[in-house]
Amino acid sequence: MELFSEERSAEVVAESFAATADPRLRQVMTSLVEHLHAFVKDVELTEAEWAAAVDFLTRTGQKSDAARQEFILLSDVLGVSMLVETINHRSGGTSTESTVLGPFHVVESPPRSLGDLIVLDDKGTPCLVSGQVTGPSGEPLADAVVDVWQANEDGFYDVQQPGIQPPGNLRGLFRTDLEGRFWFRSVVPRFYPIPDDGPVGQLLAATGRHPYRPAHLHFIVTAPGYRSVTTHVFVADSPYLDSDAVFGVKESLVREVPLVDDPARAEAAGLDNPFRTLTFDIGLLRS
Ligand SMILES: [Fe+2]
Repeated sequence: MELFSEERSAEVVAESFAATADPRLRQVMTSLVEHLHAFVKDVELTEAEWAAAVDFLTRTGQKSDAARQEFILLSDVLGVSMLVETINHRSGGTSTESTVLGPFHVVESPPRSLGDLIVLDDKGTPCLVSGQVTGPSGEPLADAVVDVWQANEDGFYDVQQPGIQPPGNLRGLFRTDLEGRFWFRSVVPRFYPIPDDGPVGQLLAATGRHPYRPAHLHFIVTAPGYRSVTTHVFVADSPYLDSDAVFGVKESLVREVPLVDDPARAEAAGLDNPFRTLTFDIGLLRS
């Protein structure tokens, strides 16, 4: 085995993975070492900076628990989550675009019936959310699973505020009807800061970045025989649409949230008239 040197460091370390049985693992580790060594050489990392990086990653792990995923946040603010998502879901323009999962899908959404109210804390501006799930030829997908979650009016998800928000607040697991349609009662999503009281927040502050995400509602939609999509719908007049802290915005996912004045429709939906509506149709590709 060749001895370690500054010039040949990447080759020497990569060679140590030569016997890796899994070819994909070998490819990933070899490339990781090449890029990591190139990075260290590029910035000529000091020992103090290296120690600070180790400490940062240690604290990122220590900050994480069942309800707080600091490593996903780190991946998000570095744009890596978005890049992985984008590479793995090149849609070809015929399906709903994907975006980041985010760190708050850490609990299962409660199963709910179409039309249900998912607001358990009595806050926010009531909004009827609806849409249709279809396949690539426009065929309606009955019994598709629509998993939704969003932050409350104060900008927090239920898992961030145990004892303050009821568990399952602003979450729901729905199944589409025979025409592929879904609808439920919620509130107009609101912009919020990602949790910035940990190492990732310190990173944002040190680099002059704000922690905010534009207002959005999360979706995971699945149907047998089709590729599932993990995405958001963004509110058109929200601040931070052009500076999302996690780079999740795609133009095709932005929707207006118009006020509707229709007493009959309001009564049918179980809402006071007038009311806000958010319509988000979702197209899936065949798997
Ligand atoms: Fe979110």
